[in-house]
Amino acid sequence: MPLNLGDTVPDFSCDSSVGQIHYYDYVGDEHWSIICSHPSDFTPVCSTELGNLSKLLPQFEKRHCKVLALSCDSAESHRKWIEDINASGYCGNTKKDGGVSYPILADEERALAVKFGMLDPAEKDERGMPLTCRAVFIVDDHKKLRATILYPATTGRNFYEILRVLDSLQLTDEYPVATPANWERGERVAVTPSTPDEVAAVVLGDFAVVKVPSGKTYLRLAKDPSSKTPKVLKRGIVEMILGTEYGAKLLPTVGRLVVSFILGGVFAGAATKTKETATATTQNGGRKKR
Ligand code: BEZ
Repeated sequence: MPLNLGDTVPDFSCDSSVGQIHYYDYVGDEHWSIICSHPSDFTPVCSTELGNLSKLLPQFEKRHCKVLALSCDSAESHRKWIEDINASGYCGNTKKDGGVSYPILADEERALAVKFGMLDPAEKDERGMPLTCRAVFIVDDHKKLRATILYPATTGRNFYEILRVLDSLQLTDEYPVATPANWERGERVAVTPSTPDEVAAVVLGDFAVVKVPSGKTYLRLAKDPSSKTPKVLKRGIVEMILGTEYGAKLLPTVGRLVVSFILGGVFAGAATKTKETATATTQNGGRKKR
């Protein structure tokens, strides 16, 4: 059965360029992870990809995300190939960057490739065995699959896009927002459709409603909340206030006071926009439950 978004990614053990890897132990309880599969060692596009991934490793670390690559060649082959990748110029090869340091999983029997649905029937090795396609699995800190991408062997991936998706997933876990087309960190975000204006005003501050011919007010844009709000606004607090129907109904009357108290008045200005008579109907402030 292929993995669907929201499924728990199963634990596995596998040999790798850095020795035996136990996936759950390697990632730990507090990190996200990406697993990137590649068709084959000693191939041109794969070499540029793994080099680029190494160059961007500090960016993944900043996002608390561990990186694992995978192909169906042996660990010994991976180690020899890494020497080439490190010399290729694609790693950056700065003093800080010692080349590919993340593990490349050696899935010689294709056990993981089958489990994760990574095999590409169109690409075969010299023995006629199917190769892995360019798959990416983005897994959150609860080991849930949050996003996947699937490319053919002939198209190299854009790892800035994977960082962008990580930014979006991590932001939208914290706030009742969704990220628009081509969004990048710091740009305006959309208020999720299930979030009432009153809740958006408290949690996100000012937002603009884009006028559209239908007269509907679904296109509401707010500043990226992570670029101006204190870290104290964590999902636990938002859920505590908004997570129950009772809590949501209370919001127009006491929510302002509670939020202002918790956040030290940071949102007091925005909260004055709250209409005393409005009834908030949200169950969770727009945040997706995992
Ligand atoms: C490559 O990585 O360059 C590649 C691998 C398999 C098929 C085509 C290209």
